[in-house]
Amino acid sequence: MHPSLSSAHEGILILDYGSQYTLLIARRLRELQVYCEVISCEDSIQDSAFTVRGIILSGGPDSVSSTSSRSLPDWVMDLHIPVLGICYGMQLLVRYFHGSVRCGSKREYGKSLLQLPMQPEVYQNTAAGILWKDILPESTVWMSHGDDVETLPRHQNITFHIMAKTQRSIAAIASSDGRYFGLQYHPEVEHTQGGTDMLKRFAYDVCKIQSQWDSGNMLSYLIEHILQQVEKHERVCVACSGGVDSTVCLVLMSQALGADRVQGVFVDTGLLRLNEAQNVQSMLEKLGISITILHKQQHFYERLQGVSDPEKKRQIIGHAFIDCFAEFAQNHKQDYHILAQGTLYSDVIESGHGGYNPQVIKTHHNVGALPDVMPFKLIEPLRFLFKDEVRALGAELKIPHHILWQHPFPGPGLGVRIAGSIDMEKISLLQQADAIYLKALRSANLYDRVWQAFAVLLPVKSVGVMGDSRTHQWVVSLRAVTASDAMTAEVADLPLSFLTEVAESIVSQVSGINRVLFDITTKPPATIEWE
Ligand code: XMP
Repeated sequence: MHPSLSSAHEGILILDYGSQYTLLIARRLRELQVYCEVISCEDSIQDSAFTVRGIILSGGPDSVSSTSSRSLPDWVMDLHIPVLGICYGMQLLVRYFHGSVRCGSKREYGKSLLQLPMQPEVYQNTAAGILWKDILPESTVWMSHGDDVETLPRHQNITFHIMAKTQRSIAAIASSDGRYFGLQYHPEVEHTQGGTDMLKRFAYDVCKIQSQWDSGNMLSYLIEHILQQVEKHERVCVACSGGVDSTVCLVLMSQALGADRVQGVFVDTGLLRLNEAQNVQSMLEKLGISITILHKQQHFYERLQGVSDPEKKRQIIGHAFIDCFAEFAQNHKQDYHILAQGTLYSDVIESGHGGYNPQVIKTHHNVGALPDVMPFKLIEPLRFLFKDEVRALGAELKIPHHILWQHPFPGPGLGVRIAGSIDMEKISLLQQADAIYLKALRSANLYDRVWQAFAVLLPVKSVGVMGDSRTHQWVVSLRAVTASDAMTAEVADLPLSFLTEVAESIVSQVSGINRVLFDITTKPPATIEWE
């Protein structure tokens, strides 16, 4: 079952054929205040509970001519609602309506010049031209394809037109009834001029979406959804880490069910920032929420001993985390029936659980590593929201700004920030270095200018000199990135003088670290975390 609101809510369903840009389509629609969900091209409509007004077929790596290529499910056309095929999605539409696709003939990648061959009136006044209404006769678009459309679909009842071309290919088609559209280029990519406008027209003018999805006003939907999922006698424990997502989840659950039916449970994994457990406790107390802290440092350290493979560490931490909750639930089994987690939509999709994503980049411990059998029901009320939507919801719930705008911290914590194997000495060194770095960012008013900043302990020792002695100590790398949703990230432009001061403080105050690096890699090709 996919994350969904109620059937009273309307939106667009995105069928994912494995494109690297699928999540961007969802992102753009949400920015346009259009509700949407991504499902795998192999799933069916039953998996979505909201009212689907239109369908977008994403791009993907397949070639329609290959026997193993993924096809257009029958149910899509049976719905008789508008369909927009992007890239591979357009080729699927062409095939479906008996046009032909030329395979592997030319590769067009990057920016291309889009030309509109029809008379301007067509784009102003016809159903087929609606997506291109105010687009210039020539504009830049982003292409990424090897196959292309050779002949237009010929279907007895539906006429298709070529709406746009590039020098090398048919770039856009539309049916004269304005129901089916195909774009060879990617409107969701920001290099495509007018791309967002096309998605907006598709949603509002073609699919006739009426209700705007406003993340600031969604509180009542979420509360209604939680009340549907939780029976009147059930009590919930909320896994909280003090981060934005779990704090919003905890406050939301308390608001929906009443504080007496909700218990925040905080696992001190020993892989947290310096003094994190105490800080979270006092922060939540100020919000009127008390939490139980489970002191489980040893439990995690023992399981992680000697393990250096990043995926294994994630799995171990994920399982250990759930075990702690299972033990808590066992000890309180009369009291609790449900575990709530603050999993977000980007976690779901990056883990390959939302759409069709054969290339899981890495397992997110709060999604991928859950055991098959759980001792309690799991609910994830934020599972269909992006980070900025969660922050808007948090503001609605009156959670203070400094909590909502704190940097993200990964579930596996320092477990994925100590490259290689983990021990208590390394954890303590990294905690100290990280605390110095974050404190310096705050004092220099730089903290709010970056999406995420942290230190990573590298599995390497370097030679240094302190006073008259030679040292042989650990190396840390500082990371600071700007991003809007963590799907891509730029390196934050921190002043060199600031960085050298931080390096000096770390090396002089943390005995055991003698060298500090700054990571200057964007995402992609790197990820934000090191493991
Ligand atoms: P990456 O490293 O994938 O990180 O570029 C993207 C964002 O996700 C956070 N992250 C995680 N969060 N569990 C989490 O809850 C995880 O396993 C995990 N791995 C990465 C990361 O800190 C960044 O904000």
